[in-house]
Amino acid sequence: MTILITGGAGYIGSHTCVELLNNGETIIVVDNFSNSKPEALNRVQQITGKTFRIYDADLLDKKQLREIFLENEDIDAVIHFAGLKAVGESVAVPLSYYRNNINGTLVLCEVMQEFTVKNLVFSSSATVYGATDQVPITENSPLGSTNPYGRTKVMIEQILGDIAFADPDWSIASLRYFNPVGAHESGLIGEDPHGIPNNLMPFISQVAVGKREELHIFGREYNTRDGTGVRDYIHVVDLAKGHLKALEKVTAMKGMDAYNLGTGKGLSVLEMVMAFENAANKTIPFRFTEPRPGDVAVCYADPSKAGSQLGWQAERGPEAMCKDTWRWQRNNPSGYDRKTLTVYKEKTPRHEPVEFFNS
Ligand code: NAD
Ligand code: UD1
Repeated sequence: MTILITGGAGYIGSHTCVELLNNGETIIVVDNFSNSKPEALNRVQQITGKTFRIYDADLLDKKQLREIFLENEDIDAVIHFAGLKAVGESVAVPLSYYRNNINGTLVLCEVMQEFTVKNLVFSSSATVYGATDQVPITENSPLGSTNPYGRTKVMIEQILGDIAFADPDWSIASLRYFNPVGAHESGLIGEDPHGIPNNLMPFISQVAVGKREELHIFGREYNTRDGTGVRDYIHVVDLAKGHLKALEKVTAMKGMDAYNLGTGKGLSVLEMVMAFENAANKTIPFRFTEPRPGDVAVCYADPSKAGSQLGWQAERGPEAMCKDTWRWQRNNPSGYDRKTLTVYKEKTPRHEPVEFFNS
């Protein structure tokens, strides 16, 4: 199959590119690099030994997107990762989030419709369930969100449902990710947040590597095993593999459906800190601070629908999540900024859509 991947240079996208290439698929990446580096794609090529077309393009640019579809007549399906994802930022600049995430998806779907490419896998999020404390969370839990980022995901799911309803040729899987963590076991690709990480795992690993002094644990009086927040952390490689299963599904069925991608098991902040300390053989200094506004005590998935309908389940536990994160962080203390790895200039794609293999 030929799969177009929006946001393929990002954290989850790059890991999914690896799994797709290793599975023998042809991929085409479209990314504007607003939250990623081209180097991530060099590394994908390094891991897999395979090349692919890369377009430095913005989804909001319909003309350019049409050209990409014109140049690539053989696209069978699209995996749509591209979007802005920082909750706090979305509260500060909601218009940017609505414009980028909603308009980007509308433009993509319009172009897909025009070129009769109607198989889509969409990156949704557990954030669509809002601040529920009913666990485990099934796909039938009520939708709602507490911030503009989350609302873009809810709205996009509604839009995609309307598209699939209006035209029964569409086939759409919306994947609701729980808490993606970890990195590829090669240590070549991983999460590379800009500035101070918002999420727990990148913060812990930056403390471990000496970039940050101590972890602040948000709240110690939640009604949980040890008083700290519980989440469903899922290894990014398991998550990436879920996209291959979802692709099988969308190419075999019609309509739209949503699937939780999580492990079904909750881990507390303190349990995660301990798992990381063991994996990295490091002490993670921390102190307790006030709870973060908007946080719930416990959130974990019921992933049984993905198990029965996609044939997918998570395989990697906390040890692999922490070991792989640590390998990535230790090898790349400045993320992709330190270009120490081989690039594949001589193997750039056939039509040379963009020239940036130039480190
Ligand atoms: P990421 O920021 O690492 O990757 C997103 C990619 O999309 C980036 O490479 C960015 O440059 C690109 N992009 C953004 N807007 C674009 C546009 N208009 N045109 C072209 N490219 C654009 O994020 P990620 O963690 O890999 O997340 C991927 C998707 O999964 C996002 O939609 C995110 O909302 C969703 N998601 C992520 C998490 C998480 O914790 N990482 C959890 C749930 C859902
Ligand atoms: C965050 C997002 C959510 C997104 C999810 C997936 C917020 C408010 N929510 O949720 O929309 O879908 O990531 O990636 O940003 N913690 C600390 N110290 C830290 C960071 C986190 O104690 O420095 C705690 C949190 O309070 C929480 C747990 O660690 O209990 C996990 O936090 P985080 O990684 O930010 O994920 P979510 O809170 O699930």
